[in-house]
Amino acid sequence: MKIAVVTGASSGIGREFVKQMGHFYRDLDEIWVIARREHRLLELNQLSRVPIRILEGDLLEEEVYEKLEKLLQEEAPDIRMLVNGAGFGKSGTVEEILKEDPKTQLEMIGLNCTALSRVTFCCLPCLSRGSRIIQMASAAAFSPQPAFAVYAATKAYVLSFSRSLGAELKSRGIYVTAVCPGPVDTEFFQVSGQLENPLKKLVKVKAQGVVRKALLDSRRGKDISVYGLPMKCAHTASKLLPHRLILKLMNPG
Ligand SMILES: NC(=O)c1ccc[n+]([C@@H]2O[C@H](COP(=O)([O-])OP(=O)(O)OC[C@H]3O[C@@H](n4cnc5c(N)ncnc54)[C@H](OP(=O)(O)O)[C@@H]3O)[C@@H](O)[C@H]2O)c1
Repeated sequence: MKIAVVTGASSGIGREFVKQMGHFYRDLDEIWVIARREHRLLELNQLSRVPIRILEGDLLEEEVYEKLEKLLQEEAPDIRMLVNGAGFGKSGTVEEILKEDPKTQLEMIGLNCTALSRVTFCCLPCLSRGSRIIQMASAAAFSPQPAFAVYAATKAYVLSFSRSLGAELKSRGIYVTAVCPGPVDTEFFQVSGQLENPLKKLVKVKAQGVVRKALLDSRRGKDISVYGLPMKCAHTASKLLPHRLILKLMNPG
């Protein structure tokens, strides 16, 4: 059985992957979708060309991994594509976020780094030649970001992990793509706090374009997918300018 696995499929970018994937990969038998809100996952049956299998659960808890591992063992599927889309951010300084809730930043590391890695580890034995992994990183991975410090650090982890893993898996013919968008119009900002920076508001894009480009870049075997001119410029600038200077520009005080 040929399948795709998508975490964070109940909204935003993950949900868009489920919508578009069936058009890119016509021989998929099922898409296995993971998130906490089951009612949202059920809605995917109407949006997807491919039958959906729901694994409802919290990726910060043990249970969902047990479910996934058991299913992988029982069905021994050929995972043609893994999309790690689950993730969240929180704006504010480290101290402000700590005051609001001491657990938030640790949970961010838990979901964005540990859960993404663990789902990847679970799925690795079921990938075969031509399989793809898409990891949701962010343009926040390109440089340190005061007032988004832990989030940017988690995404730097995702970008670095993806590139190294991609290099390791190349000989098996498996491609890993880190997707690095700037602001995307999703429910992300309901959790992170609304965008206040006018420049970031201006460059906000729709999930459709980001996902389409990510699927095309993954098909082409690219290790990184950056959507839109502003983020391409940010990516180039982050490679040319010293991070000390970028930090000064972002945090003039
Ligand atoms: N939107 C942006 O501006 C932007 C920019 C760059 C990168 N990204 C990254 O893109 C990815 C998708 O974000 P999005 O914009 O699509 O945000 P979103 O609409 O808020 O989607 C986040 C997804 O993660 C799932 N999730 C959150 N906590 C979870 C948990 N503990 N266990 C299982 N699933 C959990 C949510 O499902 P449930 O709530 O149902 O569990 C939801 O499906 C994230 O990694 C984000 O960091 C987003």
